[in-house]
Amino acid sequence: MHPDGEKILLTEEQIKLQVTKLGRQISQDYANKEILVVGILKGAMVFLADLVRKITIPTYFDFVAVSSYGSSTKSSGVVRILKDLDRSIQGRHILIVEDIIDSGLTLNYLSDNLSSRGPASIKLCALLDKPSRRIEPVNIDYCGFTIPDEFVVGYGLDYNERYRNLPYIMILSPKIYGGGKQNVTA
Ligand code: XMP
Ligand code: MG
Repeated sequence: MHPDGEKILLTEEQIKLQVTKLGRQISQDYANKEILVVGILKGAMVFLADLVRKITIPTYFDFVAVSSYGSSTKSSGVVRILKDLDRSIQGRHILIVEDIIDSGLTLNYLSDNLSSRGPASIKLCALLDKPSRRIEPVNIDYCGFTIPDEFVVGYGLDYNERYRNLPYIMILSPKIYGGGKQNVTA
């Protein structure tokens, strides 16, 4: 394990198995349809790349980047779109792909925003759910793992942009995130 980690929470094998299951379920649920996967940069990138290769229906991609003002380990709910979708989503089946749902503030903002653009449907797929810290309710249609209230990194998730390339998800040692306020991007 990386020396900044306290413990491996999810191994590469556990993630792979669950991603395969999610891809199969999504393919069944949207049979005879096509979907537009909307990835939330940058955290969802690794998960999305693996997930879409397990989806067997026609799948298109687009991305948004959002910034949430807050400390580096907590979001404040004030969300700003840094990069919007490239194209209209009117009449399309949207599957939002996110790395983790924590307070729910980012996703609430984003799903309201996308709903107002007239898609045929919107569903949410999140690799991780941290329900103990929820402020706004979020309906996760496809959830990889429910995790305890720990700050985790790896498999796309970062702390100060580090650790995204780890192939597993580990609990970050609290001595690494001692303090410091800043804007964080998803
Ligand atoms: P909210 O609170 O709006 O936050 O649901 C979602 C965003 O917060 C970040 N986040 C984390 N990032 N490890 C991370 O690397 C975590 O444990 C964690 N919890 C929340 C993440 O960027 C997500 O998009
Ligand atoms: Mg992040």
